[in-house]
Amino acid sequence: VPLAGVIGMPIAHSRSPLLHGHWLKTYGIAGHYVPMAIMPEHLAEVLRILPRAGFVGLNVTIPHKEAVLTLADVVTDRAALIGAANTLIFRADGKIHADNTDGYGFIANLRQHAPDWQPDDGPAAVIGAGGAARAVVASLLDSGVRELRITNRTRMRAEQIKAEFGARVVVYEWAQAGNMLQGAATVVNATSLGMTGKQPLRVPLDALEPGALVNDLVYAPLETPFLAEAKARGCRTVDGLGMLLHQAAPGFERWFGQRPAIDDDTRAAVL
Ligand code: ATR
Repeated sequence: VPLAGVIGMPIAHSRSPLLHGHWLKTYGIAGHYVPMAIMPEHLAEVLRILPRAGFVGLNVTIPHKEAVLTLADVVTDRAALIGAANTLIFRADGKIHADNTDGYGFIANLRQHAPDWQPDDGPAAVIGAGGAARAVVASLLDSGVRELRITNRTRMRAEQIKAEFGARVVVYEWAQAGNMLQGAATVVNATSLGMTGKQPLRVPLDALEPGALVNDLVYAPLETPFLAEAKARGCRTVDGLGMLLHQAAPGFERWFGQRPAIDDDTRAAVL
């Protein structure tokens, strides 16, 4: 029976066991997916032992997403570019393959909810420059977005992204985040602001075009104050739960041999 799971610290909040458990049941696959709280000092040992215990792979979350890159034998280009991995495959030859499917999940979710979205509809505006933002930036640029605007409270992290991702990236002052929205076709909140228990994201939306597609990576609550305000201005909005579902699909397929469907049942299973 193939085993997979998710490692992090803490791990109790992870929705991945609900999601993979739902898919295993839906497809009648004899397999298990388990959450594991792992301390950073035990990471290398755990990655060595789990393949011998029947594990075919893992999802990886905070704080291990960067460290697993140095422990993997093969790192995909996109994981290297993002600087973090969220999906490991324990290959039959004993090698550990590390990938990052967050950017893929972001784009796949966007395309599912807005099938007519095109990367060259206009500039993209990304708010935030943390780990999630890096995956979003990589995937938007890879899709063919011609201008990618970015702003972050800590400006240096946005500058770092520009330095790594190149000339299509334009950095805006955090205080000028509202101006960044002028003419933007795709807008993404990649900060943790708006999450239950945190302050809302406060960016003036006066310059937001009603034709813009507005995404929030936050999924608790599903409708953040930012999305609610964008919707009130006539924008189409995409919540963050779908990205979570879509980023999980490639791992499930590699481990269990079945490409999982992502539909309303899948959403209901993790809520
Ligand atoms: P993740 O992996 O979820 O992206 P992260 O790397 O810690 O997590 O990034 C969190 C993002 O939310 C960053 O863009 C962070 O801004 P800083 O780089 O300035 O820390 C942003 N963020 C979190 N709390 C914030 C706050 N109170 N105000 C503004 N930005 C905030």
